[in-house]
Amino acid sequence: MRLQRGMNYRHAFHAGNFADVLKHAVLARILVHLGRKEAPYRVIDTHSGIGLYDLAGDEAERTGEWRGGIARLLAADLPADARELLAPYLDAITAVRGLYGPSAYPGSPVIAQHLARADDRLVFIEKHPKDVGSLGEAIGRDKRAKVIELDGWTALNAYVPPKERRGVVLIDPPYEEKNEFPRLVQSFVKAWRKWPTGVYALWYPLKNPSDTRAFMRALEDAGIPKMLRIEIAVRTEVEGGPLAGSGLIVVNPPWMLQEEMRRLLPVLCGVLKQDRNADWIASTIGGEKAD
Ligand SMILES: C[S@@+](CC[C@H](N)C(=O)[O-])C[C@H]1O[C@@H](n2cnc3c(N)ncnc32)[C@H](O)[C@@H]1O
Repeated sequence: MRLQRGMNYRHAFHAGNFADVLKHAVLARILVHLGRKEAPYRVIDTHSGIGLYDLAGDEAERTGEWRGGIARLLAADLPADARELLAPYLDAITAVRGLYGPSAYPGSPVIAQHLARADDRLVFIEKHPKDVGSLGEAIGRDKRAKVIELDGWTALNAYVPPKERRGVVLIDPPYEEKNEFPRLVQSFVKAWRKWPTGVYALWYPLKNPSDTRAFMRALEDAGIPKMLRIEIAVRTEVEGGPLAGSGLIVVNPPWMLQEEMRRLLPVLCGVLKQDRNADWIASTIGGEKAD
């Protein structure tokens, strides 16, 4: 297959940026933990993107965002513990680079495909037809995986609970629309009620502190008992300013994930930081407070 070049939004502009580094490193840790039990798991990626990116392509080069993300991480002299925690993610990058060359970067579906075992199952949802085609090519023939052209919010409701009864749902919308935060909360809570034991990873941007606060409050008010807030601000967050960082709310986080994040995030934050206000969070929110 060819690496995709020449699309409009799309994640290609942002692939491998500081937000992808955090999201993909956390996703890989979740899959490692799910893979520690013999029973198969299911991955549901509601906003999958195209699966495989070319960091030397026009879009990635136009923003150069990957230089402040994956390029920094790969160049960093990481402490052994952080390197070990990042190994599943870094291995996925090495694998796609072995197949497609040194500028390839895997999206969440290809990272999941790399880590899934023979009996695990993967459902990749993407709304844009052209992206669905690219994603299908990136995934190739893999009987564990289904690539589906569908609205991610409709799919979230339709695909939970999966028959495996264990697994992770990644919800990673583009936040291009104003109501994306409330829609995410509403759709997630509906899914969680149908499948309260699933692991959910809800990605969010740090753009407006007021949006972030309202998002956290809405999740807490929904009464979800187990949520881990994982976040890195690479620079000062200014209302209406550029993307200052990102986070993931991990619902039903695997045991040890919080402890791992407390070891990994200071290192990642040090690698990705853009000003002296860079900071990280790995704290439980909502029902069961550890802090
Ligand atoms: C942030 S990107 C996904 C990146 C991907 N999860 C990764 O980590 O590699 C968001 C994707 O959602 C797609 N999208 C936008 N609206 C959607 C919708 N309503 N349902 C499903 N996909 C949607 C966009 O085409 C884009 O590919």
